[in-house]
Amino acid sequence: MIECLNLSKQFGHFKAVDDLSFTAEKGQVLGFLGPNGAGKSTTMKMITGFLEPTSGQIKVCGEDVLQNPQLCKEKIGYLPEGAPSYGEMEVGDFLYFIASMRGIAPRQQKAAVESVIERVNLTNVYFQRIETLSKGFKRRVGLAQAIIHNPEVLILDEPTDGLDPNQKHQVRELIVNMSKEKTIILSTHILEEVHAVCDRAIIIADGRLVADNTPNEMEKMSRYNHAVSFVSDLDSGLLNKIKALDCVRDVSYDARLKETTVFPSQGLFIFDEISDFLKSQSVVVDSLKMEAGRLDEVFRTITQDSKEREVAK
Ligand SMILES: Nc1ncnc2c1ncn2[C@@H]1O[C@H](COP(=O)(O)OP(=O)(O)OP(=O)(O)O)[C@@H](O)[C@H]1O
Ligand SMILES: [Mg+2]
Repeated sequence: MIECLNLSKQFGHFKAVDDLSFTAEKGQVLGFLGPNGAGKSTTMKMITGFLEPTSGQIKVCGEDVLQNPQLCKEKIGYLPEGAPSYGEMEVGDFLYFIASMRGIAPRQQKAAVESVIERVNLTNVYFQRIETLSKGFKRRVGLAQAIIHNPEVLILDEPTDGLDPNQKHQVRELIVNMSKEKTIILSTHILEEVHAVCDRAIIIADGRLVADNTPNEMEKMSRYNHAVSFVSDLDSGLLNKIKALDCVRDVSYDARLKETTVFPSQGLFIFDEISDFLKSQSVVVDSLKMEAGRLDEVFRTITQDSKEREVAK
């Protein structure tokens, strides 16, 4: 549905996007992760036809974005960074305007606007001027205009940025529900969102693709994969005893959270051993669990490695 091949964007001498290739399939939510300035928004602007690539090719639903920009734009709903819109317009009028710009027939516009108002929870601000809305509501108006024409492809640049926890939850549900019939690319800095909505994620650093995987596979790259953690008051003697176990590679202790993390020796499952050991020592623990891995740690490792490689060049 979306294919990017050797995509690059140069601003003067600065390469914001550097030889990026990836695809996004129908029914899939693809997450864009990466540090600030990595090139996520620039890539989205190229896919949606707002910026011309310096080199490379983009296809949306089989059509080349450069050769058939209008056809591609018709198939895309786009929530840009910051959700720009017309501040002086009221929410309802703005959505009717977008409905007509998107080519929705006049007799179907009312249904389209009402449906989107309900899905994105805008009923209470229908008559309010957009410039007077709070940040989260502006974002919701941005999301409403992106989905009003039921596009095949959705490009959402940080869709939950600035939303309160209830709205975040609701927007994530909306994205997951829409994803079955669409191809969705979203960018986010919220790593828990990757689990909640993305089938696959790519990590971009300095304009380059540094990882492309499912969230579960990404977690497996974490040193926390299969680590066992628990909360308890432990003295250093006990920590050393755990560290001395054959199946244990390392132990860390977070004094503030009173959380111990036990890292297994290569490839071992140590949950039972650790649980038995704690029982044998009559240690009372809270929330003993085996970890799947921590995406924030994988993100930091991957993006810092890429920075170090850059410095070493
Ligand atoms: N029009 C432009 N002219 C010059 N440089 C630009 C332009 N647009 C973007 N850049 C630069 O390209 C780089 C990538 O920017 P981009 O907005 O794509 O990052 P991002 O990954 O979306 O970051 P964030 O997480 O902060 O949104 C940045 O260094 C930015 O300053
Ligand atoms: Mg951005």
